[in-house]
This record gives sequence, C-alpha cells and structure tokens, in this order.
Amino acid sequence: MEKGMLDYNLKVRLPIVILVAVMSYFTTFFYSFDERNGIGYAPEQPIKYSHKLHAGDMKIDCRYCHVGAEKGRHATIPSVDTCMNCHSVVKTDSPEIKKLHKYFNEGKALPWNRIHRSPDHVYFNHSVHMAKGFDCADCHGDVASMEVVKQTKLITMGRCLDCHRETHKETINGKTVTKQNGPQDCVACHR
Ligand code: HEC
Ligand code: HEC
Ligand code: HEC
Ligand code: HEC
Ligand code: HEC
Repeated sequence: MEKGMLDYNLKVRLPIVILVAVMSYFTTFFYSFDERNGIGYAPEQPIKYSHKLHAGDMKIDCRYCHVGAEKGRHATIPSVDTCMNCHSVVKTDSPEIKKLHKYFNEGKALPWNRIHRSPDHVYFNHSVHMAKGFDCADCHGDVASMEVVKQTKLITMGRCLDCHRETHKETINGKTVTKQNGPQDCVACHR
C-alpha cells in the first residue's frame, strides 16, 4: 500500500468509522431509552403544547380535551379541531401555531407521541374509575403543572392491585359495609 493511502486510511477513514460506531451506539441507546415507557418518560412532541399553560394557568378543564375519560375506555387525545376553537384566532403569528394551522389545513392528525400505554393483554377503562371519584392526578400526577407531560406513576400490575386491594366504605340499603376497591381476579384485567 502506498504511504499516502495509509495516511488517508488512518487520518480520514478510521475516524469516520469510529464516529459512525459511536453514533450508532448512542442512537440505539436513546431509542431503547425512549421505548422504556416508565417513570420520567417524556417524549418530544410535534408541537410545544403546554399543559401548564392551558390546564394550569388558563384552567381549561381536562375533560374539555380528554372527552373520552368519563364516557369510555380511552381518555382520548383531542383533534386539531379542538385546538382551532381558539387558535383560529389566538396567537396566529406564533411559529408553533403556524405548524398547527399546517396540520389543520392539510387535514392531518398531529402525530403526538403516546406516553402511558399498557400492553395489549391488559384491559383498563377510564370511565369506570372516573365514576368512582378518582382524579386524573391519582394515576397521572399533577399534569396541570407540567410544561411537557411525563409519566410520574407506574402503571404496573402491582400498582393496579395495590389500589384494588384497598378498602372503602359503602352504604347499601342503609347498612355500611367495607368493600375492596376493585377486582383481583385475572380475567377482570386480562381478557
Ligand atoms: C387544550 C387541550 C387539553 C387540556 C385542557 C388537557 N390536555 Fe392533556 N393532552 C392534550 C394533548 C394535545 C395531549 C397530547 C400531547 C402531550 O402529551 O402533551 C395530551 C396528553 C395528556 C396525557 C398523556 C397521554 C399519553 O400519551 O399517555 C395525559 C395523562 C393528560 N394529557 C392529562 C391531562 C390532564 C390530567 C388534564 C387536566 C389537568 C389535561 N390533560 C388537560 C390536550 C389537553
Ligand atoms: C385509575 C387510574 C387512572 C385514572 C384515574 C386516569 N387515568 Fe388516564 N390512563 C391510565 C392508564 C392505566 C392508562 C394507559 C391505558 C392504556 O394503555 O389503554 C391511561 C392513559 C391515558 C391517556 C392516553 C390514552 C388514552 O386513554 O387516551 C390519556 C390522554 C389519559 N390517560 C388522560 C387521563 C385524564 C385526563 C384523566 C382524568 C379525567 C385520567 N386519565 C384518569 C390510568 C388512569
Ligand atoms: C380555550 C382556548 C384554547 C385552546 C382550546 C387551546 N389553546 Fe393553545 N393557547 C391559548 C392561549 C390563550 C394561549 C396563550 C397565548 C398568549 O401567550 O398570549 C395559547 C398558547 C398556545 C401555544 C404557545 C404559542 C406561543 O408561541 O406562545 C401553543 C403551542 C398552543 N397554545 C397549542 C395548542 C394546542 C396544540 C391546542 C390543542 C391541543 C391548544 N393550544 C388549545 C388558548 C387555547
Ligand atoms: C387490576 C388489574 C390486574 C389484575 C387483577 C391482574 N393483572 Fe396481570 N397485569 C396487569 C397489568 C396492568 C399488567 C401490565 C403491566 C405489568 O407488566 O406490570 C399485567 C401483566 C401481567 C403479566 C405479564 C407480565 C410481563 O412481564 O409481561 C402476566 C403474566 C399477568 N399479568 C398475569 C396475571 C395473573 C395470572 C393474574 C391473576 C392472578 C393477574 N395478572 C391479575 C393488571 C392486572
Ligand atoms: C386509585 C385506585 C385504582 C387504581 C390505581 C386502579 N384501579 Fe381499577 N378499579 C378501582 C376501583 C375502585 C374499581 C371498582 C369500580 C366499580 O366497582 O365500579 C376498579 C375496577 C376495575 C375493573 C373492573 C371494572 C371494569 O372496568 O371492568 C378493572 C378491569 C380495573 N379496575 C382495571 C384496572 C387496571 C388494569 C389498573 C392499572 C392499570 C387499575 N384498574 C388501577 C380502583 C383503581
């Protein structure tokens, strides 16, 4: 091999090979971190939407956007239309709102990244739990103070069962009885 070629291999190719190796190591690391889906999980979102501003400072009710929480299984994420109720006129000169308008005009849904997700073999229904008087914060933490939503509580089987095992008092036909919160049989949650 010519000396020039060796120099080229050592000074140019080798550093590039090392750089690529290091970079792929870090991307794999961060991707697997993102997929961890545990406490602290807070993926970057397509638009800098702030719960602290909308649900905290402006006190918009959680149910205004998460309309499914009291009605069914999923709390649901609002469509761009809900945002446009205000942002067709509010802050239209902001770059972030311009992004929002682009999705709206193209009739596209915002590709929000999901944060809380239980595996497919698990059945969880929001409305059942809302009807028992639980607050969103019992399972999701104080979202109204979060600039970016992050997972603050585990949604493991252990945590579901911890609450289901707790007892509460209920009055049935004038008699006060102590009842366990929720079911513990496997098929209640695994259908
Ligand atoms: C103006 C609409 C709006 C209001 C009001 C609102 N949210 Fe949200 N929420 C969203 C949007 C949009 C997302 C998806 C983007 C994100 O995660 O920030 C979201 C995401 C979430 C998530 C994460 C969902 C997931 O992927 O796991 C939780 C939990 C949540 N909201 C709870 C609440 C609670 C609790 C309140 C009231 C304190 C509330 N939200 C008020 C629009 C709203
Ligand atoms: C008893 C616990 C509990 C309560 C109370 C609760 N959540 Fe959830 N939430 C969960 C679990 C568990 C998941 C993941 C469920 C899944 O993967 O289907 C979830 C998922 C979500 C999601 C994303 C998926 C979806 O269902 O749309 C949103 C948004 C959300 N919750 C918002 C809320 C809001 C807003 C409230 C209050 C109005 C609330 N949650 C109350 C446990 C709870
Ligand atoms: C009830 C009215 C209302 C709804 C609904 C609403 N917003 Fe807002 N939003 C506002 C107001 C008011 C501001 C603050 C404007 C200001 O800073 O003066 C704001 C600010 C913002 C900002 C910051 C803009 C900037 O550059 O400062 C973003 C991003 C945003 N909203 C996104 C959303 C998204 C996404 C949705 C739907 C999930 C949504 N908003 C729903 C009223 C609303
Ligand atoms: C109150 C609801 C609930 C009940 C009751 C329940 N589970 Fe689960 N289970 C879950 C949730 C949520 C998950 C997923 C989160 C996790 O892995 O902790 C899960 C996960 C699992 C897994 C998968 C674990 C893994 O590593 O992927 C198995 C196996 C399982 N449950 C078996 C059972 C058996 C057997 C019973 C009855 C003795 C039972 N479960 C009762 C909620 C429940
Ligand atoms: C903070 C307390 C609490 C937590 C946490 C909780 N639950 Fe429950 N759950 C309840 C109560 C209370 C009931 C009883 C509701 C009733 O009797 O109407 C219940 C009922 C249920 C039921 C039976 C009703 C139905 O929807 O078929 C299922 C299934 C269920 N929970 C699944 C889960 C799963 C899965 C998790 C965890 C991801 C979970 N729950 C976490 C309190 C809780």
